[in-house]
Amino acid sequence: MRDLSGKVAFITGGASGIGLGMAKAFSRAGMKVVVVDFRDDHLAAAEETLARGGAEFHLVKLDVVGRAAWSRAADEAERVFSRIHVLCNNAGVGVLTPHRPGHLGGRGLVAGGQSRRRHQWCHHCSAANSCARAM
Ligand SMILES: NC(=O)c1ccc[n+]([C@@H]2O[C@H](COP(=O)([O-])OP(=O)(O)OC[C@H]3O[C@@H](n4cnc5c(N)ncnc54)[C@H](O)[C@@H]3O)[C@@H](O)[C@H]2O)c1
Repeated sequence: MRDLSGKVAFITGGASGIGLGMAKAFSRAGMKVVVVDFRDDHLAAAEETLARGGAEFHLVKLDVVGRAAWSRAADEAERVFSRIHVLCNNAGVGVLTPHRPGHLGGRGLVAGGQSRRRHQWCHHCSAANSCARAM
């Protein structure tokens, strides 16, 4: 993906730390960001930071271990921004927390470097930043 302008990134754990850093960087590059997190205090702080920076963003409260909620979050993100171009599976992804295959009801989200179609969600396991490839 060369032209980032107007593209949409969905970032789990995006309300603080590395995830928020990605949200700010993507936003500065002209992307819209969906920031997903399970902590209200982090979401509130991220809202303030992103708004101050002039970002176009949407916040979703989601605990990424709950599979059912993924589907709702993806639907919500699509409703707001129509499409999702980049998925950053950042929340809780670490070498100490092994992955199991997840599922986005119809939208594939698969651990282990595999991917399935619809939005071409991509999961990079155990990478420090675990930022999905731009499709
Ligand atoms: N910071 C490092 O040095 C480092 C090193 C190696 C790997 N990592 C990995 O990079 C990723 C980001 O690191 P970080 O230090 O910014 O993380 P962090 O601990 O600051 O968390 C980032 C955000 O993720 C949210 N979060 C955590 N679990 C969640 C869940 N189940 N559902 C939704 N949101 C959740 C937190 O509320 C937080 O806002 C993590 O997966 C981490 O394992 C970080």
